[in-house]
Amino acid sequence: MHGPGADSTGKGGVGGTRPGPGEMAATVARLRSIARHHSARFERAIPLIASENLLSPYAKELLISDLHSRYAEGLPGERYYEGNEDVDEIERVCLDLARRLFQCSFADVRPISGTVANLAVLKALTEPGDLVGTSRLADGAHISSAAFGAFGLRGLKPVYYPWDPERMTIDVPRTREILRAVRPKTCLFGLSLFLFPMPLEELRPTLEEIGARGWYDGAHVLGLIAGGEFQDPLHEGCTVLSASTHKTLPGPQHGILLGQTEDPELRKKLESAAFPGVTSNHHLHAMAALAVSLAEHLEFGREYAHRTVANAQALGQALHERGFDVLAPNLGFTRSHTIAVRVEKEGGGEAVARRLADSGIIANKNLLPGDRSPKRPGGVRLGTPEVTRVGMREKEMVRIAELFDELLHRNRDPAAVAASAAELKSGFTTLQYCFGAGEAAYRYYDLVGKDPS
Ligand SMILES: Cc1ncc(COP(=O)(O)O)c(C=O)c1O
Repeated sequence: MHGPGADSTGKGGVGGTRPGPGEMAATVARLRSIARHHSARFERAIPLIASENLLSPYAKELLISDLHSRYAEGLPGERYYEGNEDVDEIERVCLDLARRLFQCSFADVRPISGTVANLAVLKALTEPGDLVGTSRLADGAHISSAAFGAFGLRGLKPVYYPWDPERMTIDVPRTREILRAVRPKTCLFGLSLFLFPMPLEELRPTLEEIGARGWYDGAHVLGLIAGGEFQDPLHEGCTVLSASTHKTLPGPQHGILLGQTEDPELRKKLESAAFPGVTSNHHLHAMAALAVSLAEHLEFGREYAHRTVANAQALGQALHERGFDVLAPNLGFTRSHTIAVRVEKEGGGEAVARRLADSGIIANKNLLPGDRSPKRPGGVRLGTPEVTRVGMREKEMVRIAELFDELLHRNRDPAAVAASAAELKSGFTTLQYCFGAGEAAYRYYDLVGKDPS
């Protein structure tokens, strides 16, 4: 008999429905085949998701190493498990590289994602019920600072900074007034639609005046900060920087905490928030891969960050010249890896993102400042981290803008645009700005050689 509770041992227990002969082997083969198909699809595509990037071959190698199988709670030298001598050494290297790359005094590489890093900061710096300064989702903030995200989880009350559409950043005079009136103890700066630096230096005296601590969520711009292409929050008055490590920093999916503080109490609070606060084991394979990515960024990051921003600006200009409503034309479209395009006349964010995907151009719909309904994003967000990573330059950005124009203004058939996108991409399928440059960027690593039978 098949069914919950029935298994071949006759001992009962939940084992799911027993598979037929060869069924699960076929399932594994199918999963491999889907993953191969996925790699091949991205190899042909023009990936413009601002939060995505490609891992270097050496980082990938550590990601599938034995470190994946291990546990190491705590800090190097103070573990709760045995067998961690090599892990300790790797984590010490990782911490050294992080402090060196960001020229700061504190690093913790245990948060397993950007959101988890944010949760750690919230645990360390806030108490339930606190007021915390932040931006609105419609102005580009991450869901971490929403009531239904990490802020809500900690029971925090957001104090929203007004937006300055002219400067495309926080409105400084009105924010000063609000901060003076409500005096939050923590002020978060940082966005998911992050085109221009935050006015940290301008707001710094107000933060000092009200005794608030500056916290920067640099998930999107981490690699640009490290590459010297974006504002350096830890040297512009923020005490803590939290981030993901896989967007403009082309590392593994992981998180990081960085700080510029000698305050032992604050360091302790951040460390104990990272563990045991919001993590147990910290994904040692990803931490080791991160160490490789940090080393590579010290070697190649300046050039990569520079090219990434130059490509975003070139893409903005080329789309603008073809009649697209790229935000902030008077400001050069962006100072980061991201541009935002209002696409209401082309059908709205959702329809446009779908049509682009049908044509092999991967982007995402996005709320833009001024959008009335969160359900009807008026724009698409485009990012250049991945196309830069595979070696594209300004000339290719112009070609991508032509494809947008053909598809969205000249009604060219999506299949034909997809063929042109694949042709363009065929010259850019290897990794750059890393050790092992030239390695296939979308290679599926077949470790076993054959499907199970
Ligand atoms: C500003 C910001 N913070 C945090 C995160 C969360 O990062 P993760 O996906 O690593 O949890 C994101 C993700 O896109 C983000 O844009």
